[in-house]
Amino acid sequence: MRLPHTLFQIALLWCGHVPAIAAADKPYSVWMTDSLITRGVPATRWYTEATFYRGVEAVANLTADPSYHSFLTTSVDTLLLANGTFRGWDYKDHQLDNIRVGSTLLYLHTRTQSPKYAAAASFLHNQLVVQQKRTPSGGFWHKDPKYPNQMWLDGLFMAAPFYAAHTALFQPSNTTAWDDVLLQFALVEQHCKDAQTHMLRHGYDESLRAAWADRAGGTGASPHVWIRAQGWYLMALVDVLEWFPRAHPGYQRLVGWFRELAAAVKREQDPASGGWWLVMDQPYPGQKGNYVESSGTAMYTYGLLKGVRRGLFAEGEAAGYVEVAKKAYRLMVERFVAKNGTGGTLNWEGTVRVGSLDGNGDYKYYTTVPVVENSLIGAGPFISASVEMELYNAKA
Ligand SMILES: *[C@@H]1O[C@H](CO)[C@@H](O)[C@H](O)[C@H]1NC(C)=O
Ligand SMILES: *[C@@H]1O[C@H](CO)[C@@H](O)[C@H](O)[C@H]1NC(C)=O
Ligand SMILES: *[C@@H]1O[C@H](CO)[C@@H](O)[C@H](O)[C@H]1NC(C)=O
Ligand SMILES: *[C@@H]1O[C@H](CO)[C@@H](O)[C@H](O)[C@H]1NC(C)=O
Repeated sequence: MRLPHTLFQIALLWCGHVPAIAAADKPYSVWMTDSLITRGVPATRWYTEATFYRGVEAVANLTADPSYHSFLTTSVDTLLLANGTFRGWDYKDHQLDNIRVGSTLLYLHTRTQSPKYAAAASFLHNQLVVQQKRTPSGGFWHKDPKYPNQMWLDGLFMAAPFYAAHTALFQPSNTTAWDDVLLQFALVEQHCKDAQTHMLRHGYDESLRAAWADRAGGTGASPHVWIRAQGWYLMALVDVLEWFPRAHPGYQRLVGWFRELAAAVKREQDPASGGWWLVMDQPYPGQKGNYVESSGTAMYTYGLLKGVRRGLFAEGEAAGYVEVAKKAYRLMVERFVAKNGTGGTLNWEGTVRVGSLDGNGDYKYYTTVPVVENSLIGAGPFISASVEMELYNAKA
């Protein structure tokens, strides 16, 4: 969504509503983006960089500063031949993580109308809707052949916003496509949602074969609620709702799922810190080995604030979500944003390197993965959350 020009300018005035670790001369969205770009972000089509590109896109929209648009153009142009073919594409590799960069292609298409971005996006669309294998119910496999019949929450963010945006831009009246976008969420809701807490487990295996799959309950779900998987999923819902047609009966279902998850996230916010625990299901918050993790905290903050901005909450509920987001944002700038030496750049701390359903998906696995500095899958969502916070403050 393009903002009116005056709002760009208001947003650029650093108005200081957001708690700062020190007097900031530029908004955190811009400061964190500049910090990472200054230190170097490789041009790749992998989802980690693509998640950062998504944050840069928000900054490009917010500031109208051409250098962010140039950064995206330069990065993506490195990946493509002049006719929009990806360099060095592995045609045997089918995984949803490959699709994430599609959102950046559609941004560049919208801004430049250069046919090569549409061509590359159309290629990715084909990889998804034609080449990607599906579960018997029609859910995209997370990765073929490695994770057969498995849907992971992560995959919804990797593919669904691109699928929705591509459909809206190129085939807006293709009802089959809209039904298909909806189905991906419906399957996850059906299999992964905990009936009591309304939180979503990391993934499910429709064939019930994975070591971690819930066979007794028949859902095939993995055992735990992992903060980042649910964070990807919340971002997927809020981003898809930007494109999904309001007249389609699925729109209200998506809004309902968004609200239900937002309510769960609000309930589960750690009252002491304002963040969320790596493993979120009971009885694990506060237990030995568990910790408040930064990438998921950034994703929830983004999802809630964008939901507020886009009017997705019921009358009278938005203010409560703003309070949740502000508290989380304060934690992020106090604990997860750190000054890096004398260069005036920021570091991003406290992001767990990875979380996979490759093994048995148990508590010990999640809590023994290392925490890394300057992870793009934490810093990118922090930038997106910062843009939302800055837009909110500019209006408040
Ligand atoms: C940036 O603006 C474009 C064009 O209006 C829009 O499609 C896209 O969703 C926006 N991106 C972000 C991250 O807000
Ligand atoms: C794009 O260009 C490359 C290199 O010239 C060529 O191999 C490929 O077939 C072209 N792709 C399309 C879709 O035209
Ligand atoms: C409509 O969308 C479906 C699902 O993505 C796709 O298989 C089909 O080819 C699309 N139809 C047209 C006319 O593009
Ligand atoms: C600054 O960031 C770089 C790149 O991440 C890192 O190698 C370096 O240790 C950081 N320096 C400080 C003082 O944090």
